[in-house]
Amino acid sequence: MAVNIPSVEKLVEQAQDIYKNEFNNKAEVAVFGPGRVNLIGEHTDYNEGFVLPMALPLVTVVVGSKIPGSTATIVTTNQDVDYPHIVQIDVVKKRITNEKQPKWAQYVLGVIANYIGSTPAFHAVIISSVPTGGGLSSSAALEVSMYTFLDALNGPPNTVMPTDKALACQKAEHDYAGMPCGIMDQFISMMGKKDNALLIDCRTCTSTLIPFKSPDIVILITNSNVKHELTGSEYPTRRKQCQTAASLLNKISLRDATYNDIEYLTSLNADEDVVKRARHVVGEIDRTARAAEALKNKDFKKFGKLMVESHISLKNDFEVSCPEIDCLVELALQVPGVLGSRLTGGGFGGCTVTLVESHAVDKVIKNIVNNYSRQPTFYICTPSDGSKILQM
Ligand code: ADP
Ligand code: GAL
Repeated sequence: MAVNIPSVEKLVEQAQDIYKNEFNNKAEVAVFGPGRVNLIGEHTDYNEGFVLPMALPLVTVVVGSKIPGSTATIVTTNQDVDYPHIVQIDVVKKRITNEKQPKWAQYVLGVIANYIGSTPAFHAVIISSVPTGGGLSSSAALEVSMYTFLDALNGPPNTVMPTDKALACQKAEHDYAGMPCGIMDQFISMMGKKDNALLIDCRTCTSTLIPFKSPDIVILITNSNVKHELTGSEYPTRRKQCQTAASLLNKISLRDATYNDIEYLTSLNADEDVVKRARHVVGEIDRTARAAEALKNKDFKKFGKLMVESHISLKNDFEVSCPEIDCLVELALQVPGVLGSRLTGGGFGGCTVTLVESHAVDKVIKNIVNNYSRQPTFYICTPSDGSKILQM
């Protein structure tokens, strides 16, 4: 009942067919950038804290070729995004030349504008298995795959550090999509590794791979298939509230705050919401560090417990959950063999991530299908590789 995830090769094949139809020849390069699921460490990246995501086998593939001139033509096969699905970008003037400029093309333009190096003209087709707007970072997968595509067009040598590439993609999202995201999504999509979760220290932009492979454990992602429009406005509000808390504490970020500081904020009579947001962040940074240790020790029980604590904090203190997501978490936790379950990503809909003993996964799916009021989608995922240029 879980989605049958298409292989990267299959997606490349499909993209090649579309490319041939559209541009009358064969694409010379192919790349992919994956979506991600965050295991724990939510709304901590822009507070300079820790996050612990993994890259998914759900990917965005870009195929294409360099052409003469200064116009790039890009086709997306994604039926969920706004029209037109084919756009032209002047790669020298860095602007979309179509009369009607779809939002999705802003991400592509943003990457071109922030690419470290020169951008040639090109033809490209984008195809993706990452659900759009579901909290699994289809936007970062698009940015990172586009960035990697430009790298592939330029060929070696390439001396730019992956971290700088991720930062360029983040800037594309800030400046061109208007979303003040943290660094987690672009970082993991660029640098994920098969069979590993990645502990990212968002203060230093450094990371540690943590092996995560066990035949006894399954990572189940459940898409609630709801997206409350709050996401757009509430995310920047949360960021501001965190900054307010840090300023009141005379700190650069909440990374430096402690549980005692939360008491202090309360004694200052700070806004109740500000105190709650800070309490989530301080607790979540601590939980993420402890979860990373638990994962290193293969203590999945402890890891699962921390996931549940994370969800409760996201629900009550950070207030980014919603009834549909709470229901999915509750239904998962009812099943023996489930070690932990929580909201993943920005919130207000999107997905949950559940850590479950392999023998129980079908029971979890069944319990959700039978009791959730909408139609959910399930993905069973193992930690996968970050972006790659594929051999053709
Ligand atoms: P997510 O959690 O999936 O990143 P966002 O709302 O942040 O959700 O980003 C989704 C947006 O990213 C889409 O509305 C679209 O503009 C863009 N996008 C993602 N994937 C693609 C794709 N394959 N083709 C075109 N645009 C895409
Ligand atoms: C995402 C955002 C990330 C991170 C996350 C919450 O939507 O892109 O940077 O802040 O929300 O943990």
